[in-house]
Amino acid sequence: MNQQEFAKRRRQFLSMVGRGGVAILPAAPERPRNKDTLYPYRQDSDFYYVTGFNEPEAVAVFAPGRAEGEFLMFCRDRDPLREQWDGPRAGQEGVMAHYGADDAFPIADIDEILPGILEPSERVYYSVGTHPEFDQRVLGWLGLLRARGQSAHVPDELVTLDHLLHELRLIKSRREVAALRRAGKIAVEAHQRAMAAVKPGIYEYQLDAELTYVFRKHNTVSSYPPIVAAGNNACVLHYVANDQRIEDGDLVLIDAGCEYDMYASDITRTFPANGQFSGPQRDIYTIVAEAQAAAIDKVRPGNHWNDPHDAAVKTITRGLRDIGILKGRLPSLIKAEAYRPYFMHRTGHWLGMDVHDVGDYKVDDHWRLLEPGMVMTIEPGLYLSPGQRRLAKKWQGIGVRIEDDVLVTRHGPDVLTAGLPTTADEVETFMAAAR
Ligand code: GLY
Ligand code: MN
Ligand code: MN
Repeated sequence: MNQQEFAKRRRQFLSMVGRGGVAILPAAPERPRNKDTLYPYRQDSDFYYVTGFNEPEAVAVFAPGRAEGEFLMFCRDRDPLREQWDGPRAGQEGVMAHYGADDAFPIADIDEILPGILEPSERVYYSVGTHPEFDQRVLGWLGLLRARGQSAHVPDELVTLDHLLHELRLIKSRREVAALRRAGKIAVEAHQRAMAAVKPGIYEYQLDAELTYVFRKHNTVSSYPPIVAAGNNACVLHYVANDQRIEDGDLVLIDAGCEYDMYASDITRTFPANGQFSGPQRDIYTIVAEAQAAAIDKVRPGNHWNDPHDAAVKTITRGLRDIGILKGRLPSLIKAEAYRPYFMHRTGHWLGMDVHDVGDYKVDDHWRLLEPGMVMTIEPGLYLSPGQRRLAKKWQGIGVRIEDDVLVTRHGPDVLTAGLPTTADEVETFMAAAR
């Protein structure tokens, strides 16, 4: 993302906060993994969205109309000794020169300076609950003003930031769509590589390695821990152990995506380890593939958030009835949610900087209407767990999910993760060609 994009977002954000408001956004803290070792740093998405700044120990403050500057940053000082160990820091001069801050202060001075910036405001915008340690500090600054009694003004309202910022983040700009498309393309290559590498007898982690290789080769990281689930493991929704042997006759479910320039992809494919679906596997797979196609077709402006899910539910329920797993009339089966033991999650979620991205799914208690620029996943699945009561043996242990990332456009659905085989025939053809 270039500086122009961040500047545009700040203009929009400042006008939403409005005069009389002050918004406070903390950077993500560093998180210890174990002694002296940190998890790889990932900036807070809201903070990054409006700053483009990737250092910890920073706080961005937006004060629309403030004469001395509207975008202020508290950040770490330059420190040659620390920079020798940990790498460069922008420092106050750097954030003004390169990140568009109007004014900048050492983070160590925030207790002294910020209460004075909050004092004249009417509304303080801050997201409570995301960074609990920081919540205490914000409350502390407000408490300090209150304690000063009559001599200080105290902001009347503490307003959650989410609604403003997350409405902005929900509609993706041209540059954001380009980043999402790139993240999608890299993940498509990773899935292709894993599908080409599978054979009975190798281990799930070996396919995980193929995915990770492609992600790192393109300077991306996984946007969430990859799921590589063979056989029964595919029926465990959040399986991440990835340590089992892949057997002849297994289906392999891979759910993996990457993060490119802070934007995520999220793809799932399910394929036979030996290149050919068994009869029952093909039956289940085909139902899910048809459900996905029906759901993607509903990703159109003017449809509401739940239309794709409704389409998936209908296709899945009909499919399960046609192969005898469910018995009864289609409308009654749908109404009774008879599919839920086998399809227990929703058909998708918003996608953006966060894999499960921000944005309300309902407005005033009604499903939100889809608009151009929204991006979501479409990911129906069927999980016929071993040991399910009243389920014929031949179905048990089959887990299938098919997931793509879809942009709403005026012209209909635009699949950002196009290029992977989707129907059962396409999967078998791809795997035969890759061998
Ligand atoms: N990979 C997480 C999800 O599909 O929602
Ligand atoms: Mn996924
Ligand atoms: Mn997903």
